[in-house]
Amino acid sequence: MNYTTISVTKENLYATIQFQRTEVLNALNMQLMQELVDALETLDKDDEVRAIILTGNEKAFAAGADIKEMAEASAMDMLNRDQFARWDKIRKIKKPIIAAVSGFALGGGCELVMTCDIVVASETAKFGQPEINIGVMPGAGGTQRLTRAVGKVKAMEIVLTGKIFSAQEALQWGLINKVVPVEYYLKEAKNIAKEIASKPPIAVRLAKEAILKSFDTTIESGLEFERKNFYLLFASDDQKEGMKAFVEKRKAEWKGK
Ligand code: CAA
Repeated sequence: MNYTTISVTKENLYATIQFQRTEVLNALNMQLMQELVDALETLDKDDEVRAIILTGNEKAFAAGADIKEMAEASAMDMLNRDQFARWDKIRKIKKPIIAAVSGFALGGGCELVMTCDIVVASETAKFGQPEINIGVMPGAGGTQRLTRAVGKVKAMEIVLTGKIFSAQEALQWGLINKVVPVEYYLKEAKNIAKEIASKPPIAVRLAKEAILKSFDTTIESGLEFERKNFYLLFASDDQKEGMKAFVEKRKAEWKGK
């Protein structure tokens, strides 16, 4: 697939996907989302990639779903397009996804951030779920993931007032991992990607899977799921190598097998 709304670059075992609709603050239209899902699924199968960064530019990560594309749609158009179903595919990506956020991350942009696994933001990042201001509500996970991340009362405040909040507030509320000066947000995301890429990939994959499982299961079955993934890792060469290297006091060499 030739991409026109995103670019993909690969370096040192990680890849960066950058949104390229700068003229509309990276509004997430259907084409961009289609290209994003295609790129993520391709990178998920690529052995040379062990972590993926999603980013926009200094002014905007993404200012939400494309309002102009939806403005005249009927409920049946929305149902038939079912455009947010595409977002479920992002949740199924097995490799870690790191969001590098600067500027606006609003509506679907904020929801996309919440779909990522680790989030680095610049001091100038602005988050929010402003859908209420245009007569709708979050439709791509905002009422669910936000509530799980920040709790009921804060989620109510954010969604019902549509207010924009700062990177510092997002950090304080547990929505993001780190806030850095604007000149470093992408660099810091790359540092994290490199660090994860240096770990044994199967253990990374099964650990991510187990953490995500905690969102839709009871503690009992979540613990069982975790235990089985832990046991499964004993079928990998990397477990043998990792523990042997520890005993022999040397650096492990991961094969990803
Ligand atoms: N969809 C389509 N176009 C958008 C857009 C969006 N979400 N956000 C910005 N743009 C466009 C603007 O229309 C403008 O285009 P033109 O130059 O052709 O007029 C361009 O991007 C620049 O935007 P502004 O001139 O508005 O820039 P600003 O700096 O004055 O304001 C802003 C920035 C506060 C982010 C403002 O653009 C804004 O409020 N955007 C909409 C945010 C929003 O409501 N997002 C939620 C969308 S709905 C959703 O996401 C549903 C869901 O749950 C998935």
